[in-house]
Amino acid sequence: MKAMNYRGPYRVRIADKPIPEIQHPQDIILQVTRACICGSDLHLYRGKVPDTRVGTTFGHEFIGVVQEVGSQVQNLKVGDKVLVPFNIACGKCTFCLQGLYAYCHESNAMSSTVGGVFGYSHLAGGFDGGQAEYVRVPYADVGPVLIPDGMSDEDALLLTDVVPTGYSAAEMGGIKKGDTVVVFGAGPIGIMAARCAWLFGAGRVIVIDCLEYRLEFVKKYAPCEAYNFKSMDDPVLFIKRETDWLGADVCIDAVGAEACGNALQSFTGKTLMLQAGAATALHWAINSVKKGGNVSVVGVYGPTDNLVPIGNVVNKGLTIRANQTSVKRLLPRLMDHVHNGIIRPRDLITHRFALEDIADAYHTFSAKLGECIKPILIPNGTY
Ligand SMILES: NC(=O)c1ccc[n+]([C@@H]2O[C@H](COP(=O)([O-])OP(=O)(O)OC[C@H]3O[C@@H](n4cnc5c(N)ncnc54)[C@H](O)[C@@H]3O)[C@@H](O)[C@H]2O)c1
Ligand SMILES: [Zn+2]
Ligand SMILES: [Zn+2]
Repeated sequence: MKAMNYRGPYRVRIADKPIPEIQHPQDIILQVTRACICGSDLHLYRGKVPDTRVGTTFGHEFIGVVQEVGSQVQNLKVGDKVLVPFNIACGKCTFCLQGLYAYCHESNAMSSTVGGVFGYSHLAGGFDGGQAEYVRVPYADVGPVLIPDGMSDEDALLLTDVVPTGYSAAEMGGIKKGDTVVVFGAGPIGIMAARCAWLFGAGRVIVIDCLEYRLEFVKKYAPCEAYNFKSMDDPVLFIKRETDWLGADVCIDAVGAEACGNALQSFTGKTLMLQAGAATALHWAINSVKKGGNVSVVGVYGPTDNLVPIGNVVNKGLTIRANQTSVKRLLPRLMDHVHNGIIRPRDLITHRFALEDIADAYHTFSAKLGECIKPILIPNGTY
């Protein structure tokens, strides 16, 4: 089969790999019909994630058709069309039983922090991902969900990560009626977080980024106010000024480790890699939220150290919540929202590439060419 193949930082290509086989009676083999590239894949692509091995296939956002089922799989049969959450979860451990599927204690023997994730380095279990014609899906009775008749493939595709992560960013913010919510980052995750902030009762939603085309997009999609931090002397001061000098009620970091905007953070976090990414957006979030406010972090950072102003967190009495999103827990209500037209995820998709054009797809998304917001991949023969 054709599959995305990591060759080293900034080098990806299509390679021939054997079609995966059932390795455990609870596995299925899925023929992939659509897959995305995620902002999280860019951390891998740029060589920022430890233990990303040459030869790995990335891809944790995909849908497809069940091709083969293991002997213990009960809920799925050959020919079913499913969307697959990015978390790999056993469904039975102490964390899965609480709905914390991202922290499954069984699916990733490599780590005691995060559970298994498709195509996300050996740190997250070493599973091959879905930027391929076929993918093996473990614990198939736990993660995959049938795509209902009438739901568009592209909506279903974004329910594997973008919609639940944006929604959970807003949910973790503990937004109260009338709150001012500031979202750092206008990528797919920040855009969805801004959109979902209204569902929790926000009174004002402000998005901060430096890419004009994304700011223009989110202004209409969320809809919200959107500002370019490159045109501000100091984003923290700007937000204070906008909020009667009190600060925002809730700040959301939807940027993560590869933030720009602060030379020292970028140099130590991205160039020298002395810290696990540039914590610029997190700094701004902590410093521009009001005293007693909430900071919600879905931007991804590496282990272990970051230059974060923890003293300000203590002195201001902030609540910080963060997660790798447990997708499956949120799917029932989010599928309802999509069904009822409250969220239209497919509007975020700007680029559609044949799987063969994987190098072009990564480069376009990484360099933000052609006003790219969300690129998807289409395996041969599934148009
Ligand atoms: N926690 C989870 O479960 C989860 C799931 C998916 C993605 N993520 C993470 O969410 C983050 C965003 O993902 P995405 O797909 O939207 O990525 P993306 O790369 O498309 O978007 C990131 C955006 O942040 C902007 N940005 C850079 N520095 C900034 C700063 N200092 N302030 C404000 N904006 C800044 C960039 O211009 C870009 O538009 C990534 O770190 C990704 O790994 C987390
Ligand atoms: Zn993702
Ligand atoms: Zn589990």
